[in-house]
Amino acid sequence: MTSLRAIQADITQLNVDAIVNAANSSLLGGGGVDGAIHRAAGPELLEECRTLSGCPVGQARLTRGYRLPAQFVIHTVGPVWHGGTHGEAQLLASCYRESLSLVAAQQLASVAFPCISTGVYGYPPEQAVEVAIAAVQDFLRSPCSLREVIFCCYSAGDLALYQSCLAHF
Ligand code: APR
Repeated sequence: MTSLRAIQADITQLNVDAIVNAANSSLLGGGGVDGAIHRAAGPELLEECRTLSGCPVGQARLTRGYRLPAQFVIHTVGPVWHGGTHGEAQLLASCYRESLSLVAAQQLASVAFPCISTGVYGYPPEQAVEVAIAAVQDFLRSPCSLREVIFCCYSAGDLALYQSCLAHF
């Protein structure tokens, strides 16, 4: 049985097997959670990212975590919000599914997600939370190594959204 829970924390501090980074398609760093993860992981993370030659929207790439408590970082590229009629929900769901596929391939037990696309990329958080939880629940219908999925919210508002949505699943 895999536990799903939401917490309010800085994802770079979490002692889980893998943390997910809300990256951009260059994988060469940025602001927000991407910037925080690169700062905490140290320069070796960017060096490894340079070898990956980017990542398309909706897909995910695995690297080591270097100076982070987490052993691995999964870099995924969320959709930019353009009003909801450009396949944003499908691409966001794909970020969660592809990230979990990489976690399962590594036989990892725990993973933490930030609120992908809801910052700079403008995805409305109250819509993103439904997509995120549904995608994770859907993935967990098949047996895998995962024992814990954490939705790591940076704000109290996002935490409240996740807690309310998780209460209905
Ligand atoms: N820990 C957890 N969550 C965080 C942290 C942190 N240290 N810092 C920011 N966040 C949260 C934001 O509050 C937001 O809820 O991560 C969520 C995603 O916001 P962004 O980091 O802006 O990511 P996103 O909206 O997916 O935009 C990605 O921003 O930083 C650039 O290179 C990145 O171009 C890419 C774009």
